[in-house]
Amino acid sequence: MAITWCRPGLLHGKRALVTGGGTGICRGIALALAGAGADVGIASRREEHLAPTVRDLQALGVAAVAVAGDVRVPADVDRIIAHTADAFGGLDILVNGAAGNFVAPAAVLSPNGFGTVVDIDLKGTFNVSRAAFPLLKVRGGVILNISATLQLLGTAGQAHAAAAKAGVDSLTRTLAVEWGPSQIRVNGLAPGPVDGTEGVRRLTTPEMRTAIDAACPLGRMAAIDDVASVALFLCSDAAAFVTGVTLVVDGGLWLHSARTLGADVAGG
Ligand code: HXC
Repeated sequence: MAITWCRPGLLHGKRALVTGGGTGICRGIALALAGAGADVGIASRREEHLAPTVRDLQALGVAAVAVAGDVRVPADVDRIIAHTADAFGGLDILVNGAAGNFVAPAAVLSPNGFGTVVDIDLKGTFNVSRAAFPLLKVRGGVILNISATLQLLGTAGQAHAAAAKAGVDSLTRTLAVEWGPSQIRVNGLAPGPVDGTEGVRRLTTPEMRTAIDAACPLGRMAAIDDVASVALFLCSDAAAFVTGVTLVVDGGLWLHSARTLGADVAGG
């Protein structure tokens, strides 16, 4: 994928790891980083999610590797980091995208159901960031945590994922402060619903899809490229002085969701 504003070779010489990079938004981010010249490793629990994306990354002319593993398991995390860094000779960019979700009302959500999503999204982000820190500080680096917008308001059926993503946003700010002196920037990217992703398949109905298009101030649901483009910006030196920020990329949808005035009153 070529992000249209990207200068050729923008990330030439950079070594990246994208967890969850086999599918969906994070596959798009992996392809955008590779399109800008970075070598890219991807990790996912399921091997079958990785092979097609690795082929697509290599077709862009960069080195690419895939490692199957679970971000909840420290030994897997160590293996993912070591394999990627060994293949590329180091690590400069980490995108924490591995996530899990489902819709369940809090009253019937089991403790293990709540904990499973917190373990993948929040603790997984911590596990991989912590393991990557010694490598990222060698030359200075970038961490990008994939967040969401559902924790910005109260989203029914999402107690687990919203709590996890709120924790991710907090972790982004703390790590930015702790690791800034090591020249590691830590930012977040918060997509709303993104067309063609597992998240939208799991969380929305066709009727909701139509309502999202209508409610979004920019008039449509995001495409994967909309998100990948901003990820590329935050991972590049164009954002060299940006850290501790979680940037919402949803066409203004969450702001509109909070609006209480009717369209006639608001002049809409
Ligand atoms: C209620 C559920 C459930 C459901 C699982 N659980 N699915 N509870 N409703 N639909 C409960 C189980 O009953 C169990 O609790 C606990 O969660 C763990 O379930 P497992 O299946 O054993 O866990 P695991 O195999 O590790 O699977 C993790 C998973 C699964 C998250 C539950 O859905 C998964 O692997 N998802 C990966 C892909 C994915 O989710 N993609 C969407 C990402 S979208 P008990 O008590 O029974 O033991 C996304 C975007 C977020 O993340 C932001 C959205 C805008």
